[in-house]
Amino acid sequence: MVTVTFFPGRKQVKVRPGTTLLEAARRARMVLPSRCNGNASCTRCRVIVPPAAEVSPLREVERRRLPEGAIAAGVRLGCQTRVYKAVTVTVPAQSAGERPQRTSDPS
Ligand code: FES
Repeated sequence: MVTVTFFPGRKQVKVRPGTTLLEAARRARMVLPSRCNGNASCTRCRVIVPPAAEVSPLREVERRRLPEGAIAAGVRLGCQTRVYKAVTVTVPAQSAGERPQRTSDPS
């Protein structure tokens, strides 16, 4: 099991390696919006992951859905990011209140 710590609130949860951050957040009772139920289309499940974190690599769908600046700042889609080692994740305030921004891919 690996420990995922969510900020704000320092909520911790132990999950199996390979669990998505969206699933981990739900188990930690952390508010991480999801209108598409993990299908990488709503972009509401944004989290900030440290650069050295051992999580799954950035997926092509994330490159299409997230602005370049956000990716450079460590933003990932929680539904597409799987954890393999202990990680600390920040849920940005706008994840709960900001409407999704589409990037270049209309699919
Ligand atoms: S839950 Fe919709 S993009 Fe992740």
